[in-house]
Amino acid sequence: MTDKYRSDFKILDQNLVYLDSAATSLKPKYVLDRMEEISGSYISTLSRGFGQNAENTEYLVNTTREKLASFLGCLGGSNSIIFTPNATSAINLVAYGYVDRVLGTDGSILVTNEEHHSNILPWMRLVAKSFDRSLKIADITKGNYLESVLSLIDDRVKLISLSLVGNVYGRINLEDIKIIIKEAHRRDILVFVDAAQAPLSVKIDIKDLDLDFLVISSHKMFAIGNTGVLYVSDRIINDMLPAIIGGGTVSDLKIDVTSLENSTLKVDINTMDKIVTCFDNYHRFEIGTQPVLDIISIGYAIDYIESIGVDKFHTINQENLAYLIQRLKQLDFVNLIEYPNSKEDRSLSSIISFNIKGIHCHDVGFLLGEKNICLRSGMQCASLLLNSLKVPGCLRASLGIYNTQDDIDSLVEELTNIHILFSKK
Ligand SMILES: Cc1ncc(COP(=O)(O)O)c(C=O)c1O
Repeated sequence: MTDKYRSDFKILDQNLVYLDSAATSLKPKYVLDRMEEISGSYISTLSRGFGQNAENTEYLVNTTREKLASFLGCLGGSNSIIFTPNATSAINLVAYGYVDRVLGTDGSILVTNEEHHSNILPWMRLVAKSFDRSLKIADITKGNYLESVLSLIDDRVKLISLSLVGNVYGRINLEDIKIIIKEAHRRDILVFVDAAQAPLSVKIDIKDLDLDFLVISSHKMFAIGNTGVLYVSDRIINDMLPAIIGGGTVSDLKIDVTSLENSTLKVDINTMDKIVTCFDNYHRFEIGTQPVLDIISIGYAIDYIESIGVDKFHTINQENLAYLIQRLKQLDFVNLIEYPNSKEDRSLSSIISFNIKGIHCHDVGFLLGEKNICLRSGMQCASLLLNSLKVPGCLRASLGIYNTQDDIDSLVEELTNIHILFSKK
């Protein structure tokens, strides 16, 4: 166990035990310093101006897109990388811009019951548009991830959407997903990977995975803001419609206002395509003024990650997680929520979910917060999983490279105090 990287995170100079990295990571000094340097000096909006500031901004955003393409191992290079307001927006963009058409009247989408609400609700709404469409939900709670997904694939399935790392179990599903992608593509089924929780646990290699869509969430990997990063395969990107449209996405808009009748423009979805010419690749999806500082910070976040290496993150987190799980298991008043067989497959990331017997998770979360021990309590946007497990909410501790054994000991000590406090009632 190492505290080598702790000093990279200035906020930890305060008395803070931060165990909520799956919600958002702390931001390293390296990223914050770079952002301070550039934000006060030479930034403008994107693609709107001339001069040194505009050129610098363009350069920094392009460089970030290229760094992301290389970080994710993109086929098709940086043209396939789309910045979105967050990961959830990216999933909606794909749902309405592409999957809606592919589904036809009676197609199905396949997910598992561990997906985050953001990887369920957009698909639910899409299937709700037509009576014969359906959402298939694989139950993975018996510890049979691969079989439960494969067994639900049939000719009506048009898209499989899976999280690379689950946000409650924290299991890395990579090896299973590789097999599922092969089977899906053999049957012309699209695959979307929600990698929001993955970049600090898994070396993502889109070339190797041969994916159709993948999303990550920049604020969970040291960037400021909360930009989503969406990869869309170059087989698809220019067939995907911009489900949300506006300034910055079109190269031509052919409306002759002088020829309108009664000042009225009559337009239907087919003529719209004739009137509006969208840019190609990512340009057609990045609407309005872009959050350039947030985007540029992703480039610096990648510099920081690569200076350490994803493997190193994974090793440190696994070591800390093993210690945390071991300590929690010593507490007979704690119920762990673990993916069955996780001990054997050693594929945990940095997350462990649990409850204290007889105490509501919000009470525990609140009391820990009073001691400046931060973790997440509630449904974790994972109602399907928690409902399947008949658990009305839980606590989730999630680690970062800045955590130490002392953090874990503080958590365990405080959980014990809370248990004692409630036992006296
Ligand atoms: C697995 C997973 N998918 C999607 C999301 C949504 O990400 P965002 O908040 O960037 O929309 C989260 C956020 O916690 C998540 O954990």
